[in-house]
Amino acid sequence: MPDTIFRNWSSDFSRDWGRKPIRIDHTLSQNDLFSKEALAELIERYPIEHYSLMRTSSRGEEKKIWRRGEVGGLSGHEVMAQIASGGLWLQLRELKLVDKRYNDLLQSIYAEARERVPGFHSFGHEMGILISSPNAKAHYHADLPGQALWQILGRKRVYIYPAAEPYLPQVELEKIALTGLESALRYDPEFDRDALVLDLEPGQMLTWELNAPHRVENHDELSVSMTTEHWTEEIRREQMMTVANGILRKHFGVKPKRGSADGPAFWAKAALQAGWRRSPWYKREQRKMMPVDFRLAPGTTTTIVDIPAYVV
Ligand SMILES: [Fe+2]
Repeated sequence: MPDTIFRNWSSDFSRDWGRKPIRIDHTLSQNDLFSKEALAELIERYPIEHYSLMRTSSRGEEKKIWRRGEVGGLSGHEVMAQIASGGLWLQLRELKLVDKRYNDLLQSIYAEARERVPGFHSFGHEMGILISSPNAKAHYHADLPGQALWQILGRKRVYIYPAAEPYLPQVELEKIALTGLESALRYDPEFDRDALVLDLEPGQMLTWELNAPHRVENHDELSVSMTTEHWTEEIRREQMMTVANGILRKHFGVKPKRGSADGPAFWAKAALQAGWRRSPWYKREQRKMMPVDFRLAPGTTTTIVDIPAYVV
């Protein structure tokens, strides 16, 4: 197994990390933790509360489908074969809680990034694996923490947009921060003129400016990718400010200006958002998980059976 995570690092990456979209070579595609055998084994024992198996419309299907299911008694290889045949994606969330080996890897990724990027001190690391069907899409959205996308198998086309108006309206970012719902962003095909479009191959990772909206299209092949998330003191302060501005706008009818993440105004807002976290409004706006209402059944292509819906 290779001993570094990043390959062909350049000083430009140290300068642009977290500020601009950058594509960097990595060695994880050769890591045993991402072999098909390792992934199959992981799928078979993954706790349902930590995964989302989604049935989506595939190419040629007119009707919009969006359902959550369980892998049932299929082997990990059978699950991957059905995903490869279309209309499914499987997200293994909170990987670091489920298997310590992945947490060790996550820590070494960020330790290496810290060595390579001066002043980069991150915490609150998370990772997940996404196994998705040929031509699957991730719709236009923005994420709150710092993010990276690591391609392991198959290719994806990634569209990255500026983290500024009109691509990311401030009011929309506040909504995302308040509700945790990332789908709140409006997409306009005109935006594509200003998008940076990159094809991501196995062995490449991509990271971008904080909150930059993006969307992803798989090529016509099975895709396995990993996402990592992190916070820094700077990102946390931005987030506190965004939440506080969202509260002011939504519940107090104030039109807040984006302030600097420092000084007395910042700390007043920080106190406001800390109170928000404990309020009943916050709980009401938290993401509601979709109920599970199907199970995969044996078959050479995607085969599902309906089951009585339940909430995990
Ligand atoms: Fe994302």
